[in-house]
Amino acid sequence: MGKPHLPLSAPSGTFSMSAFSLERLLGGISPEVFLTEYWQKKPLLVRQALPGFGGWLDRDRLSKLALRDDAESRLVRFIRGQCLLDRGPFEEDDLAGLPKKNWSLLVSGVNHFLPDGDALLHAFDFIPYARLDDLMVSFAPTGGGVGPHFDSYDVFLIQGLGRRRWEISAQDDLEVMDDAPLRILKRFAPTQSWELEPGDMLYLPPQYAHNGVALSDCMTWSVGFRVPTAEDMVGNFLNYMQDHLKPVGHYSDPDLMRSPHPAEIPETMLDQVEGMLKAIHWDKTVVEDFLGRYLSEPKAHIFFDPPERPLKPAAFGKAVAKKGLRLDARSQLLFRGHRFYMNGERLECTRETCALLQTLADRRHLPPTTLTELLPLLHEWYVAGFVATGSLP
Ligand code: SIN
Ligand code: CO
Repeated sequence: MGKPHLPLSAPSGTFSMSAFSLERLLGGISPEVFLTEYWQKKPLLVRQALPGFGGWLDRDRLSKLALRDDAESRLVRFIRGQCLLDRGPFEEDDLAGLPKKNWSLLVSGVNHFLPDGDALLHAFDFIPYARLDDLMVSFAPTGGGVGPHFDSYDVFLIQGLGRRRWEISAQDDLEVMDDAPLRILKRFAPTQSWELEPGDMLYLPPQYAHNGVALSDCMTWSVGFRVPTAEDMVGNFLNYMQDHLKPVGHYSDPDLMRSPHPAEIPETMLDQVEGMLKAIHWDKTVVEDFLGRYLSEPKAHIFFDPPERPLKPAAFGKAVAKKGLRLDARSQLLFRGHRFYMNGERLECTRETCALLQTLADRRHLPPTTLTELLPLLHEWYVAGFVATGSLP
């Protein structure tokens, strides 16, 4: 078990999501234009995408997250030109005596611990949640970074505290060093470079070479996307099929003929097994069910914190009618038509309940609502820690 989930609240006086503007985030261009001209195509630098951004976390608060066993953290150090990688969870001592320069601490899934971070991640709702991965935050002192590399996913790099120089290159040469624990490019020929200040944002498409070097104590917030490989998808689909297929019958051979070669695999056996395998089939509904479960399945290190003394259904209903309902930051609720997928499980909704569940899935919260048909289900989710009463930050 991990440490109890204590949502971090952002210090007052810093950027608040109530000041968020999608138009400003994308530098005045519409999400439609962004998707047509930049998404998966070319970089976009937006100065002051989130003015005043940066104070939600500092080095100390990030280091505390890196101690948790339900957070994925990495420490990258460059010592005499050699790259070293350590994975968390860390002990306080591991992070206390670090040098003044040339290292970086990275924590993934910060959206699970920081409600504002979750709201920021889901503010990128012009891209389907099925594509969203997580919010990663790094801290680096002067000179720190993870070296020139490329990512297989799209990323929005938002400058938090301090300044960072980003160099980028559209190079095709993506050969990486053989002996480094991270995929660092053997050769890097930057063609553009910018210094990012707090609140600036750089969008990079997949496979775009980049290198971020801290010019002072510096924090970078990365909104990353999921790009499962075909191998991942197919492997997971085959696992799904194994769990969901219920083949019936046995091999049988009442017409067996004696063979001069007892070691030879009989032709009739091949035919029969081929027939059994041909009975495996899937259609779009099966693919949808697989995708919904797969995409909404929490990662292995994620667990939920059910309320210690949950309200009874009637009291829960009253609380939702008064304060509304929100998804826990770790919950993934996706849907297609009237089929909903909540944290790896599927449920069908009726015409009456669909609209409410769609709002909860799209907006990740419900305004104060009187629940009728949905009360038992939402209470079940509340008891499991998937949803909580109240509003988003
Ligand atoms: C970082 O925050 O240092 C890494 C971000 C990236 O290059 O993808
Ligand atoms: Co990167």
